[in-house]
Amino acid sequence: MSEATDTLNGFEAEQASTPRVVVLISGSGSNLQALIDAQSYDELGGEIVAVISNKADAYGLKRARDAGIEAVALPHREYDSREAFDGALIKVIERHEPDLVVLAGFMRILTPRFVQRFYGRMLNIHPSLLPAYQGLHTHARALADGVSEHGVSVHFVSEELDGGPVVVQAAVDVTPEDTEDSLQQKVQSREHLIYPIAVRWFLEGRLTLGAQGPTLDGTPLPPQGLRLSHADAAEELDEDLEDDDA
Ligand code: GRF
Repeated sequence: MSEATDTLNGFEAEQASTPRVVVLISGSGSNLQALIDAQSYDELGGEIVAVISNKADAYGLKRARDAGIEAVALPHREYDSREAFDGALIKVIERHEPDLVVLAGFMRILTPRFVQRFYGRMLNIHPSLLPAYQGLHTHARALADGVSEHGVSVHFVSEELDGGPVVVQAAVDVTPEDTEDSLQQKVQSREHLIYPIAVRWFLEGRLTLGAQGPTLDGTPLPPQGLRLSHADAAEELDEDLEDDDA
């Protein structure tokens, strides 16, 4: 066998084994961007092969195109029912043969059929320390309750809205000065830190969802996943901790 053929075979083998990711979005796509950036540093553990949005004007579609990733708009309004839309979405996703489906600000309630189709290979990110504050307006609700700690969770998707098994959380301290905007910014900086990590764990085969719940490297995760503290994340993000201690 010639050297050229060897190289080609090696290349093809590598291509064939690169795990494939499809990302679903509805809006800005800042989490998508964090995943794209991780991929560009070879830190995602796989390749984003398509980004699909139920909103044609989602800024995240531009982010995908700019990164050379196939961007698909599938407006839900063009379908008569939730079931019809989810059926069409399943078809588009499966055309891309993903190993993992990543929900990154995908603002749709999913049908049981959709969830079952990708169960165990679909992750979501939710801006709260689940099980607290499932649903919308999490930052405003946390502030209204006067909690001292808030954060973000990455979880496997189950039929219960924001109720699937949690993989990893990052906490933020809530200070008296915090507003909805400042809290959202703090939480989003953590989102962008932990989502690429969780995706990589999955794509490297370290994170799985078994009958007993999620495991990392074969060890069952605690009920609320692994927890990154405010200070640890702040250090990782090179944030000034003094302000928060005041
Ligand atoms: C994030 O806050 C995420 O936690 C929630 O939706 C938002 C999406 O933001 N699920 P972006 O589109 O990734 O900027």
